Amino acid sequence: MSTEKTAGSQKMWGGRFGENTAASVEAFTASIHYDSRLYAYDIAGSKAHAAMLAANGILSAEELAAITAGLSAIEEEIAAGTFRFRRELEDIHMNIEKSLVERIGPAGAKLHSARSRNDQVALDFKLYLRDQCDRMVALLDDIRGAFVRLAEKYLGSIMPGYTHLQRAQPVLVSHHMLAYFEMFGRDRGRIRDCRARLDLSPLGAAALAGSGLPIDREQVAKALGFAGVTANSMDTVGDRDFAIEFTSCCTLIQLHLSRLAEELVLWASQEFGFVDIADRFCTGSSIMPQKKNPDIPELIRGKSGRVVGSLMTLITLVKGLPLTYNRDMQEDKEPVFDAVDTVGASLAIMTELLDNLTFNTGRMEEATGRGCMTATDLADYLVLKGVPFREAHAIVGRAVALCLARDCELPDLELGELRGFSEKIDGDVYEVLRVEGSVNSRISTGGTSLRRVTEALKAAKQQLGI
Ligand code: ARG
Repeated sequence: MSTEKTAGSQKMWGGRFGENTAASVEAFTASIHYDSRLYAYDIAGSKAHAAMLAANGILSAEELAAITAGLSAIEEEIAAGTFRFRRELEDIHMNIEKSLVERIGPAGAKLHSARSRNDQVALDFKLYLRDQCDRMVALLDDIRGAFVRLAEKYLGSIMPGYTHLQRAQPVLVSHHMLAYFEMFGRDRGRIRDCRARLDLSPLGAAALAGSGLPIDREQVAKALGFAGVTANSMDTVGDRDFAIEFTSCCTLIQLHLSRLAEELVLWASQEFGFVDIADRFCTGSSIMPQKKNPDIPELIRGKSGRVVGSLMTLITLVKGLPLTYNRDMQEDKEPVFDAVDTVGASLAIMTELLDNLTFNTGRMEEATGRGCMTATDLADYLVLKGVPFREAHAIVGRAVALCLARDCELPDLELGELRGFSEKIDGDVYEVLRVEGSVNSRISTGGTSLRRVTEALKAAKQQLGI
């Protein structure tokens, strides 16, 4: 058999191949156009791996020094945009490794000892997502800060609270803002859980079965700041739970943003007129000169489709895959990157928009005065006077019907008229029928009274350390 190099052996894995890869195959299988995003993590992983190989006698000190310097030079070139990525080298791992071998020779070819691209790609992806988790937490804290600022600025202002998008009960504007503080707080917790679960180093699982070389997985894990190492080599290279979990956290964030966006679109309409979004956060119409459109919230609402789509892509990708690594898994990166970009950008611009938002408190208070929104308070008033709640509900229902017929509000009814519905009603009822009285009566934990909301605001600021 000839030992001459065949065309096929130009590839790093080409030894057993007799011909070159078809151009169409190279184009179809390449991932370098998107996984180059992982370059810094790939290099950090390789440096830690090389240091461990040297510590265990697989590389000499000189070889380690050459590898480390070579990798640093490659990193600088990629960062500067001068590195030449080659599609025929498929992915970021082989582009970097091949370039290293070309620069430093045989020492570079030793780097891949005790490693496979299967554990390497899992490592790069986890390192990337660990950083993205930290970035998401920071972005979530930023937007939570914006809700706190609004809650503080408008403390005491009242607006209608809705169920079924029908006026239900008066609430404090700040209470509504702090509802979002809670929602994004849960998102923060989920991201942190996700980070903690993915914080185990895959390196050393090698292709799927572990390595026969004398390696020290814990050393690499420690060098890369992992909390530990994964337990099972087969699970390690077959696992993409962490990508799905991260994207599912992203999906919930984007859903929360979308609900907020929907409210802002409604509130900015002339029908509601509850908010003004600063001009520089709106756009106009090319035909209707009077228009000022809330495009930012609309786009955020629309982009939730992309994020949900990314999650669906990942879930479908993993479903039915046999253990362990399958090339299908290369399809895991683009949806995650898209979710990272979409959610990151949406959080950042929504935070900016919130800081450029004005509530029309007069308009909101006026809306609160319409729609018999203190009807529940009147029922509660009767309950405190011993009337069973269901009976009280029916009594108040009749009073509301009278208001509807007269196009007036509950406090507009004379005491005599109210007493016609129930003898238990006395002059003190008017306190209960006022919206401020209603709001401030809601002193149950988590309720909308000024007292509770002031406490909640204080707790929120404490959480953010502001
Ligand atoms: N580009 C590949 C991916 O993203 C790297 C792992 C390839 N492993 C392999 N055995 N072909 O999944």
